[in-house]
Amino acid sequence: MSKNEPAQARERWLRVDIISAVPHLVTPVIEASILKRAQEAGAVEIVVHNLHDDGLGNYNQIDDVPFGGGAGMILRCEPIFACVERLQAERQYDEIIFLTPDGDRFSQSIANELSLKRNIIMLAGHYKGIDQRIRDMLVTRELSIGDYVLTGGELPALVVLDAIVRLLPGAMSDAESALSDSFQHGLLDAPHYTRPAEFRGVGVPETLLSGDHKRISAWREEMAVQKTRQRRPDLFE
Ligand code: ADE
Repeated sequence: MSKNEPAQARERWLRVDIISAVPHLVTPVIEASILKRAQEAGAVEIVVHNLHDDGLGNYNQIDDVPFGGGAGMILRCEPIFACVERLQAERQYDEIIFLTPDGDRFSQSIANELSLKRNIIMLAGHYKGIDQRIRDMLVTRELSIGDYVLTGGELPALVVLDAIVRLLPGAMSDAESALSDSFQHGLLDAPHYTRPAEFRGVGVPETLLSGDHKRISAWREEMAVQKTRQRRPDLFE
């Protein structure tokens, strides 16, 4: 199997550890919806770690002023190394991912690749605010979810996590639907319709009502190509 095909093709189980200084941003999302169901189904185990638990001294310090001066605080090495190394003592990690706007652009193909891993750490830091030695010595991969700057890596970590988990066997009620998503075949998705067949005078493409599966499938392919040509010609390159 190519490394960029999603996990559907084989039975597996993924563990994701998320390290964050604001874990309460992360936990409500993983306790809802597909992420919750995927954990209950045993497709994924998600563990959130509060960086302050490994903070230094009486105040559980996790950051400090930058050498050379400048605004803002920088996440220190010790708490992050302590947390990561404790996890590494328990299991082998395939990737330690740092979410950052200057990372590689996250894509469906990277989600597919990550869905085949067994153990992943996601490190949510603060842009500019993390000691470079953490990136140089611990991190195996840096990912950006787009060319804009968020306040921290928590939301990007959840975006990446959601995209991976929905590919895992048992995460979705209809395993097929993840494979027919936009981008999965390099095309955007065709339009969808449901009942009623006419709403406020607007009908549904006749082909979809025909019951002719060959025609329907050809129509969907044609619509997907048309939409991709209009909206994302770069995907044909
Ligand atoms: N942290 C802040 N902004 C980010 C982005 N766009 N992608 C990933 N991590 C980030």
